Amino acid sequence: MKVLVIGGGGREHALIWKIRQSPLVKQIFCAPGNAGIAQQAECVAIAADDVDKLLDFARQQQIDLTVVGPELPLTLGIVDRFREAGLTIFGAGQKAALIEGSKSFSKDLMAKYGVPTAAYGTFTDAAQAIAFIRRQGAPIVVKADGLAAGKGVIIPRNEEEAVAAVEDILCGGAFGDAGSRVVIEEFLEGEEASFLAFTDGRLILPLASSQDHKAVYDGDSGPNTGGMGAYSPAPVVTPDIHDKILEQVLKPTIAGMAAEGRPYSSILYAGVMIRDGEIKVLEFNARFGDPETQPLLARLKSDIVPVLLACARGDLSGIELEWHDKAAVCVVMAAGGYPGTYRKGIPIEGLDAAAMLEDLMVFHAGTDEKDGRVVTAGGRVLGVTGLGTTVADAIDKAYRGVAKIHWPEVHFRRDIGQKALNR
Ligand code: AMP
Ligand code: GLY
Repeated sequence: MKVLVIGGGGREHALIWKIRQSPLVKQIFCAPGNAGIAQQAECVAIAADDVDKLLDFARQQQIDLTVVGPELPLTLGIVDRFREAGLTIFGAGQKAALIEGSKSFSKDLMAKYGVPTAAYGTFTDAAQAIAFIRRQGAPIVVKADGLAAGKGVIIPRNEEEAVAAVEDILCGGAFGDAGSRVVIEEFLEGEEASFLAFTDGRLILPLASSQDHKAVYDGDSGPNTGGMGAYSPAPVVTPDIHDKILEQVLKPTIAGMAAEGRPYSSILYAGVMIRDGEIKVLEFNARFGDPETQPLLARLKSDIVPVLLACARGDLSGIELEWHDKAAVCVVMAAGGYPGTYRKGIPIEGLDAAAMLEDLMVFHAGTDEKDGRVVTAGGRVLGVTGLGTTVADAIDKAYRGVAKIHWPEVHFRRDIGQKALNR
């Protein structure tokens, strides 16, 4: 088979690393890829959201399976376009991807189908939004409705900051069209977990549990990022919580999407807040998580290609997932300054030394090749992923890898996985 993976981050590197192990696969392309992916696949210089060019490429190359990593091409309808052209593609269709593309849509869906989530209001009018904030008081959360590259959620420190956020978004155009509407919701406390499941719209095949670390600094301080590290399994997801997520979240959501004429056949990511044995959904994503995919796929024993094909074809019957009895921890090495401004083009030292270590995978996120050297090219640069017999062992493996790699201004958290140890 010929496979095309769309995207160029750590998630896509992990997908390619895993897809490559399948005996079904002969050739892998990635658009646009990165310097690490280029060692395992043929990179094609087409942007992940250039649907026309991607479709031309897939037709010309007679790609047997296309796998979509990021959300933007999904919301642009890449899956529908490929299917109309008779191509097999893994990803949520445009109507299904609205579950991530519009927070007001996903909140209304949850309200309609009884999925537990924070109380909320949806507004296009700033005066009404501000009146709502005044009534509710802080702490409160302000979210731009549409896709905002992971930056659309604001957790203000007080009422005045909440009001300012609403003014920025609704009046100041801080997020463009994505901010023509805001969702304002109750602030939830607890411990977060990521719960991903493959589905064909009817059957649900959960992946192992995982946990992301969103804040940029140790101890969950500083602004939120796309994710500074992740581990799997996440002990906060006890068997009881696992069942609750399946029964209270995934089943009604997938049935609800079908009832709304938005059948969902792909991977669904539920970000949940867990407190005192109860769960509430923070968000849905219509794709694999980044960096959760890195530790998840490091632990997956089954060939992933038959699973992706089954979702793409809309029938998961007979498919099962087997996991290695190991834990995995991914530490993101980022550019200093991220999630704000940062430099690019800095040579990375020590990748060869890290490649010698056992039970370690260095997934590239924002990297590029310049004059034969791997250089930084993004905010999240590498996802150094260790496998171990326990989370503690996997932490040790991952940080041994991190210790080998260096560039000026590198930043990483030193406490990835600690929450699992505290339990
Ligand atoms: P979202 O993109 O909606 O998941 O939001 C990104 C991050 O913001 C989440 O992973 C949480 O850390 C935080 N967040 C979102 N909504 C809430 C909420 N209602 N209460 C507390 N934290 C939240
Ligand atoms: N790690 C969070 C996300 O993929 O949205």
